[in-house]
Amino acid sequence: MLFRFGLDFVREDKDGRSVNLREFLGRYVVLYFFPKAGTPGCTKEARDFQQYLPELSALDAIPVGVSPDGPEALRRFAEKEGLTFPLLSDSDLSLARAYGVAKDKGVQRATFLLDRAGVVRYAWSKVKVPGHAQEVFEAVRKLHETDSFLNPLIFVRRAKRAISSEPVPQEILTRLIEAAHLAPSCFNNQPWRFVVAQGEVLERVKKALPGGNYWALPAPAIVAVAAHPEQDCRLSDNRDYFLFDCGMAVGFLMIQATQMGLVAHPIAGYDPIAVKEALGIPKDYVLITLVVIGRPGDPEKLSEKHRAIELGPRERKPLSTVLGWNRFPEG
Ligand SMILES: Cc1cc2nc3c(=O)[nH]c(=O)nc-3n(C[C@H](O)[C@H](O)[C@H](O)COP(=O)(O)O)c2cc1C
Repeated sequence: MLFRFGLDFVREDKDGRSVNLREFLGRYVVLYFFPKAGTPGCTKEARDFQQYLPELSALDAIPVGVSPDGPEALRRFAEKEGLTFPLLSDSDLSLARAYGVAKDKGVQRATFLLDRAGVVRYAWSKVKVPGHAQEVFEAVRKLHETDSFLNPLIFVRRAKRAISSEPVPQEILTRLIEAAHLAPSCFNNQPWRFVVAQGEVLERVKKALPGGNYWALPAPAIVAVAAHPEQDCRLSDNRDYFLFDCGMAVGFLMIQATQMGLVAHPIAGYDPIAVKEALGIPKDYVLITLVVIGRPGDPEKLSEKHRAIELGPRERKPLSTVLGWNRFPEG
């Protein structure tokens, strides 16, 4: 189960404070819907979550109870039972409806486990209270553990060369640029400029590629990334940050592309003068990279060397040669 919604709901909490679910991003959220404060089942459920609070907090998780009760009823409930986690009032049931747990004039007992990004990773419907808090805690523990593995998108991203000529719609290309534009930059300077080449302009860009980048010729789009050194931090010791910041932006773009099943392959092999001319990039800008975009294609169309790279394992130097603990790596 993987979906993400309801983050922008603002609800009043037991203390009458407006709470946006977005506030909980960055932590695991046990969002549990309960029918009515003070009833035996809801009281036991709340007590159980309160009991697990130290263990959940240790895993960076927070229970958040939601019910159709008004804020005052929730405040009394929390006070009587000594509940210290947030309780939110969903009296118009719109949050319950968004999560599909509204029923008649109330809610069904249900729990959703959201990860740090607000994505629902586990869901329990028609919850039976005995043993539920423990089951949820076990799920949080498992999630916490698997989320400490390498990010799967980082793990599977490759600079693939087999690209199909199938067109990629503009809204998908725009999404890639949105991802890139969310990268951090020195002083938030956002030095990157992106030019998406398609159609006839793309054909001009392709003429500026050397023979070694033949594999990019079927691509339906190429994104040029350019920046001006003066439009980002320039610090002592040659620390010009425009290249660094654009690199991060391209990294974000590649991760987004991987999530969307696209190839996004940065290249340095092109004639920069010809590409700048084709795309109207001012002479004083540095054309840092082109990113070749498309859907995965047929590896059989690649040269033998490239096919071997495409289908082979990823090559990296041993970590010890690039990582030093308290001193520069020796490798
Ligand atoms: C700045 C940069 C320039 C690159 N230029 C080219 C290129 O011109 N042609 C090419 O086939 N691959 C190019 N690559 C892809 C790299 O060869 C590839 O990322 C590297 O071999 C590691 O493989 P991986 O990305 O699959 O882990 C470039 C990558 C970067 C980051």
